[in-house]
Amino acid sequence: MTDKNTTRFRVAPGGKLTGRVRVPGDKSISHRSIMLGSLAEGMTEVSGFLEGEDSLATLAAFRSLGVTIEGPEQGRVGIHGVGLRGLAAPGQALDLGNSGTSMRLMAGLLAGQAFDTTLTGDASLSGRPMKRVVEPLTRMGAHITPTEAGTAPLLIKGGMQLRGIDYAMPVASAQVKSSLLLAGLYASGRTCVTEPAPTRDHTERMLVGMGYPLRREAGRVCLEGGHALRGISIDIPADISSAAFFLVGASIAPGSDLILEHVGINPTRTGVIDILQRMGASIRIENRREAGGEPVGDLHVRSASLHGIDIPSELVPLAIDEFPVLFVAAACASGRTVLTGAQELRVKESDRIQVMADGLRTLGISATATPDGMIVEGGALGSGMIDSHGDHRIAMAFAMAALRAEGTIDILDCANVNTSFPGFVGLATRAGLQIGHNGRNG
Ligand code: S3P
Repeated sequence: MTDKNTTRFRVAPGGKLTGRVRVPGDKSISHRSIMLGSLAEGMTEVSGFLEGEDSLATLAAFRSLGVTIEGPEQGRVGIHGVGLRGLAAPGQALDLGNSGTSMRLMAGLLAGQAFDTTLTGDASLSGRPMKRVVEPLTRMGAHITPTEAGTAPLLIKGGMQLRGIDYAMPVASAQVKSSLLLAGLYASGRTCVTEPAPTRDHTERMLVGMGYPLRREAGRVCLEGGHALRGISIDIPADISSAAFFLVGASIAPGSDLILEHVGINPTRTGVIDILQRMGASIRIENRREAGGEPVGDLHVRSASLHGIDIPSELVPLAIDEFPVLFVAAACASGRTVLTGAQELRVKESDRIQVMADGLRTLGISATATPDGMIVEGGALGSGMIDSHGDHRIAMAFAMAALRAEGTIDILDCANVNTSFPGFVGLATRAGLQIGHNGRNG
């Protein structure tokens, strides 16, 4: 038996990425398909569902809330929607594992139910800030008790009458926005959320797709409670946040030529493409089309010589999950890359500023952590042992770094790669990465 913490990757240096690959389904859209499909009337048929631990935690939670869900089987899920008032009290606390999206969105959705619930998570999730949803939900009339530190477990009291509020978010967070919109489905009056910068809008798109009336203006969204959602078919595109590892890997590894198929290119998610292109990457979007209310395309990436840039702060929320691998791109670029305005990275699955700076320095790169970002000087990557701190995106970012390293890179604590990218090792191997592992990510 391999203990969770002892799953390791060993990646041999060099190689290139070629061929065509389809990375797993979008994590954000997968969560929302289960949540909104459960609250809809009638069946929601999903294809392309991410069978990773995070979205499976959401799926299991809704089964515990009394929803019949078929699958997942090869990305297909059938959700027998119970309507807005059809959820049932779970017999036990809902364990959401590593998934911040599950916890923050479900806090809003469960605040409006007739029954009590308790939400728990693993050690990483139990250290992440929940006040950002508890505080505005409390203003809506919710009764949610976090720990004294403002973290999970969250005790959510049922039977509260929620009322709509007009909320200007202090941080640009799609999770906070979505949590309030889901609570707003149960609130009297109008719930409005204003964001300081654009964040992913998958909740809004899916609500509209399910026939829910919604008002959207620049930087602001409003809805009124009490309308019905109707079940629909949802074709979930490949996750651009998973494709990002390959966009960087193929950019930095000489001789690479790779096509990433059917990737979601919602403009609130494509910051990674913009940033890499500004650094000199060769990425072309081909076959643009629509799937399930979301824009998709095939991403054609060839190796290129990258140069350092000052990353424009307006791109930060649009690439928020891609900075671990973008720091690897910066390490392989000529000159200096400067990121500012990204303090949110400190409260993700790990402190992604500190953990990435430590790892890059282990490999011989000059990387200086700042309170809200990093300064990276491009250079030669050596070899070494990296601690991913159980953060899936840190583990995969350093796996890609091996393509340009002088020696082997060993990466510790990699089991959580399964939260967002089951099958990463197999897919990366087929594309050309020389990666081995001793754990559960074949
Ligand atoms: C997500 C929003 C982002 C992102 C997370 C998924 C979502 O979090 O980092 O991986 O699905 O809404 P924040 O809203 O905290 O920025």
